[in-house]
Amino acid sequence: MEIEEAARAILKSKKSVALTGAGISVESGIPDFRSPGGLWSKYDPLEYGHIGSFRSNPGKVWKMLLEIDQLLDRANPNVAHDVLAELEKRGFLNAVITQNIDSLHQKAGSVNVIEYHGHNRSLRCEACGKTYPKSEVDFSKIPPVCACGGLLRPEFVFFGEPIPSRERQLAETAATGCDVMLVIGTSGSVAPANYLPHIAKRHGATIVEINPGETELPKNIIDITIREKAGSALKKILEYINSETKK
Ligand code: APR
Repeated sequence: MEIEEAARAILKSKKSVALTGAGISVESGIPDFRSPGGLWSKYDPLEYGHIGSFRSNPGKVWKMLLEIDQLLDRANPNVAHDVLAELEKRGFLNAVITQNIDSLHQKAGSVNVIEYHGHNRSLRCEACGKTYPKSEVDFSKIPPVCACGGLLRPEFVFFGEPIPSRERQLAETAATGCDVMLVIGTSGSVAPANYLPHIAKRHGATIVEINPGETELPKNIIDITIREKAGSALKKILEYINSETKK
């Protein structure tokens, strides 16, 4: 029932967007943050995920970052990423706003991807701002340093840092202009990403939440709740759309 409702909303929409979180990559083998056994149950986010802790103990944080990197670099897109890429290709999805840094949406073929928390493809020097693709960085020394001697940091957003203005602007424009927002695999616990469904709702969008568990998004802004894993839910939504469009 909710699957058909969501598929019909997408079929009817002029501009639909997806807001994704770590849950969409769980079926690719990457643990999320806050589910039991998630990354934040292993690493204290304030000790490892905050810009202050990175700057005061870069070696310690870099050790954790390299461990996560191995996970991310080994991961492949799963059917949920593939369906979102297919929906974009068919003109049923205009943008993916992702909180994830794993590049799996792009690997699946999504083109218009707004990386709200940055990405893990390159590093930036804290001193001179020079950026390096990870493949060019010497990780035999931890923490890695720039040719100028400055500390190298990942190009994603730590807690305690602002969202890059370009991504923030793109995401808010997408949320304002959409008439359907698929909120997939996010606990909705981190601001300002968790404002985006409110912005969409305020501008008249239908909010569809796809998540096997309860989240912190207020129930009163969600129109359609699909309590399922992203892979199976999105596969069924695409099958319904195919059955309706290939008549
Ligand atoms: N399909 C869909 N959702 C899933 C699946 C799945 N297979 N598996 C887990 N989930 C859901 C969980 O129920 C949870 O609600 O994904 C959500 C993941 O929530 P979090 O771990 O809090 O991840 P996220 O919402 O992306 O965190 C936001 O917090 O730590 C920071 O910067 C980090 O981008 C991250 C932000």
